[in-house]
Amino acid sequence: MNAEKIIIGADHAGYPLKEALKPFLAEMGLAVADAGTDSERAVDYPDFAAKVAEAVSVGVFPRGILICGTGVGMSMVANRFPGVRAALCRDEEEARISRMHNDANILVLAGRKTDAETAMKIVRTWLTTPFEGGRHQRRLDKIGETELRLSGKTGL
Ligand code: RB5
Repeated sequence: MNAEKIIIGADHAGYPLKEALKPFLAEMGLAVADAGTDSERAVDYPDFAAKVAEAVSVGVFPRGILICGTGVGMSMVANRFPGVRAALCRDEEEARISRMHNDANILVLAGRKTDAETAMKIVRTWLTTPFEGGRHQRRLDKIGETELRLSGKTGL
């Protein structure tokens, strides 16, 4: 399934890869919203992770892409937002499984570890692989229940 629009964000370490991916995403028929950053000047990754993750969390965008140097910091921030399932993927297999099993809605890339050609393959696979549902839905439901419990919204 192709999402119709996507939001992408990066820090300075992810900026070059973000710029390389934008035309590729547009070629895939997606409307791309760029949440920044806009240069290789040093910035703080939580600011950009929050912009993208909040947009996905509240449903303004069905999917997002985040890029920092390792992908670790972006993952840490994004997965604090309700309903966000951010997956750091370093190859196509991880991208495929993050969709089939985890229904990942944010793809996290490592700008200092993953070259543009590999990143494009990862992105294509991630965007075109459907969620399998079934036993995997039961597991996602458990993530949702945990999220609610930790937010204090249920007495479980
Ligand atoms: C920036 O130097 C770097 O710390 C950041 O891009 C990211 O890798 C953090 O997880």
